[in-house]
This record gives sequence, C-alpha cells and structure tokens, in this order.
Amino acid sequence: MALLNVLCYPDPRLHKVAKPVAQVDARIKKIVADMADTMYEAPGVGLAATQVDIHERIVVIDISEEQNELRVFINPEIIWVSSEKKSWREGCLSVPEFYDEVERPAQVRVKALDLDGKEFEIETDGLLAVCLQHELDHLQGKVFVEYLSILKRTRISHKLKKRTKELLDER
Ligand code: NI
Repeated sequence: MALLNVLCYPDPRLHKVAKPVAQVDARIKKIVADMADTMYEAPGVGLAATQVDIHERIVVIDISEEQNELRVFINPEIIWVSSEKKSWREGCLSVPEFYDEVERPAQVRVKALDLDGKEFEIETDGLLAVCLQHELDHLQGKVFVEYLSILKRTRISHKLKKRTKELLDER
C-alpha cells in the first residue's frame, strides 16, 4: 500500500492539463492502486491523477457506502451531457474543509478504458455523474472552486494558503 501526496488548492500544479495514457501497462496499474489507496485513506469518493501530481488521464471513483466498488477510468471522455442540470454540494480532497453548491448537467455519458485497456461506456446520473464531471475537470486543470464567485474563491485560497503554511510550520 502506498499513499500519495494530495496537492492542495491553490497549488499551481492542479492547473496542469493531463496527457492521455498511451498504454495501460504495469506502471499505470501501480498508479491506479496507489491512487485507490490514497482515496480510501482520505477518505474520498473520487481522485484524479492530477491531484497527486501525475499528469495523465486517470481517475478512480468509489461512491459505494462500504467503499468496496472501485471504478477506474483511464482516458475518460464525456461524450454526452443532458440539458437538464442539477445542483450538488461538492467537496474535494484538494480543497479540504470547503463545500459548496455547483450546478452541472444531471446526466452524462462517459467513455473510458478499463484496467485491461478495454473501452467501455457508462451513462449515469446522481452522485456518480457529479463525481465523474468533477474528476474529469481535474484532468483539465480545473478545480470545482472555479465555478464559485471570485470573492469565495479568493477567500478559500487565502484560508488554504494559511492552513498549508501552518501544517508546514508544525513539522
Ligand atoms: Ni476534487
């Protein structure tokens, strides 16, 4: 089990755009396993590779209550969104202790590769749809607070910078 360091907003590395995975090989499988360990340890319902400073298109999600239904998305792409929108209170492991409402399409269809490198499609709504959109944003270098007002974002950024500094000072 290996835990990876999760970048904290406003770390500029969170804004890098991830590159597609060329081949789902042993290296990618190790990254996925470490990302899953990191997500479960946090605990969180989703993690994008960008958040652990790996800039390749990899996402892990587990929205199950028992945290025993790992979903892996390699090179995920949103291929359809509903016109109907829904608002959810979102949080993020890279934005600790902040939650806010974000409006997104209620349903999405996503295509991706699984751990065997096989393509699959999923059409979903509810928390999984929110999670997929949130994590895919990370791969594009976008953090959910960017949907909030500049005022809120500035306040979050200020508080988290202070928090990071305090954590570093404690070491
Ligand atoms: Ni996030």
